Parts: sequence; structure tokens; C-alpha cells
Amino acid sequence: MTEHEFDHLRAFLKARSGLALGPEKRYLVESRLAPVCQRHGLQGLAELVSCLRRAGDPALESAVIEAMTTNETFFFRDRAPFELFRDVLLPRCLARRDGSRRIRIWCAAASTGQEPYSLAMLLHEAGPLLSGWSVEILATDISAEVVERARSGLYTQFEVQRGLPVRLLLKYFTQVGKNWQLSPAIRSAVKFRPLNLLRNFAELGAFDVIFCRNVLIYFDTPTKTEVLRRLARSLNPGGAVLLGAAETVIGLSDALVPDPEHRGLYVAASSERARGLRVSAAG
Ligand SMILES: C[S@@+](CC[C@H](N)C(=O)[O-])C[C@H]1O[C@@H](n2cnc3c(N)ncnc32)[C@H](O)[C@@H]1O
Repeated sequence: MTEHEFDHLRAFLKARSGLALGPEKRYLVESRLAPVCQRHGLQGLAELVSCLRRAGDPALESAVIEAMTTNETFFFRDRAPFELFRDVLLPRCLARRDGSRRIRIWCAAASTGQEPYSLAMLLHEAGPLLSGWSVEILATDISAEVVERARSGLYTQFEVQRGLPVRLLLKYFTQVGKNWQLSPAIRSAVKFRPLNLLRNFAELGAFDVIFCRNVLIYFDTPTKTEVLRRLARSLNPGGAVLLGAAETVIGLSDALVPDPEHRGLYVAASSERARGLRVSAAG
């Protein structure tokens, strides 16, 4: 692959998925795209780049984007965000939404589904607290392939051993051969669909809780700023965004502000809670 071809791939990936690759990622690109070339009957990366330049093969374009995404995830990843959800955000939602009795949650880069299904299990465990409430969990990802896997609710032994308490494994999964099938009750609690965070997502409506974890790390600064701005606009009054452990809004966006009492939790700068936080910081 020539320098020119590599630059074309980097520009293509940044424009289409937000993935910002440094010049040192040449080896990563080569190793992830070699199997794509094989599957699509291409001689090598030079031919792949010339196909992308002609821009007439959407299946190839998607395959390139999907091959370059990192889908690492596991049940109850980092634990603290899920405890925050159960102990802080859910009680807040129950208090604020008592009128409509409707709660909307969005996992904005849900990969193979462990994050939204962890939330669905927590909600199921909350049981009678939510009786008479409608709780919607929407889970999206740029990759149609991982969305399809997530929908199946089928996980390997390795996947269920990562982060999932044995009690919940036994309660919500059934063993099918070497794999584990999630129960219909939990699967049906989550709606999956492909969605690219670079595109306008206002049509999804407003949410009380948005999990957008471990995806912004792959974007450059202007892209992070733009996505954070639009996430803030997708919050219901009193809503909150949770980011990954290595992600922050600081230095990137004024639209969201950190909640000083709860690390990793962000509220809209225009919200009542943010105004309250400013007053208590000043006084
Ligand atoms: C590392 S996983 C994070 C999964 C989960 N949120 C977690 O923290 O465990 C990042 C996910 O972001 C998705 N992704 C990358 N670029 C995206 C984009 N532009 N729009 C939506 N999803 C994207 C990838 O396909 C991948 O599944």
C-alpha cells in the first residue's frame, strides 16, 4: 500500500465513521483489511482503495468500516456506571417522570449488546418498583454485523464469564451447546438498530439516560465536540449522559457539564441541575 492509498483509507474512515487513525496505524489497517480483500475477491489493498475511489460498492464500504471498528465490550463493564444507573439515575427518573411513567434509555454504541442487556437485567431486578412504568431501551451501533449479533442474545462461555455475576447468568440465560442464550424477557426489553453517530440522530427523540461509552475515544476533537453537542440536545430535562472511563467533556464541550457528586455522569449545561451545581459552587 502506497502512502497515498493509506491516506485515502484514513480519510475515508474518518469521513464515514469518525475513526481518526494516526499515520502509525498502517499495520493495523493492513491486518484488519486483508481478510476483507479476500472475502471480496480483491488482489490486495491497492485494488481495495481503487474500488473505494470509484464509490460504487456499498457492501465493500460497509465491510471496510466494520473491519476497522473495535467492538470490545462486556457485561457490567466498569461496574460504577451501572451502580450509578441503579442507585442515582433510576430513582431520579422515577421521581421526575411520575406523570408520564415513561423512561427512555439509549446505548449509543452498544456493540454486541452486553451494555444494554446489563441495563435490562438491572431493570428486571428492580421488579415491582417499575410496575406500571414503560421503560424503553434503544441500542444502536454503526456496525450492522454487531447489531445482528446483539439481537440474537447468544453469547459464548468466554463472554458470559466477563463481568456477569453467576447469579444473573443462571437466572437469565440457558445453555445451548457451548453457548448461552439470553431469556426472551430480557431480549425483548432492548430494541436494536444500526445508527452512525456522525449522522443526525434528532429523530430518535429525547432520552432520560444516554450511555455513550468507549466510542468517542476513537474520534478526533472536532468530531467529539460535535457528537457531545448533539447528545446534550437529545436529553430530556433532568437527563444524564454516561461516558467511558477514559472519556470526558472537559476541554471538548460546554453543552454538557460533569456532575461533581457522581464521577462519569454528565448533565446538560442548560439543565436545572447544572444551574443548581453552579449556584452551590459559587456559594
Ligand atoms: C469499544 S465498543 C464500546 C461498546 C460499549 N459501549 C462498551 O463501552 O462496552 C465501540 C463501539 O462503537 C461503535 N462505533 C464506532 N464508530 C461509531 C459511529 N460513528 N457511530 C456509532 N457507533 C460507532 C463500534 O462499532 C463499536 O461497537
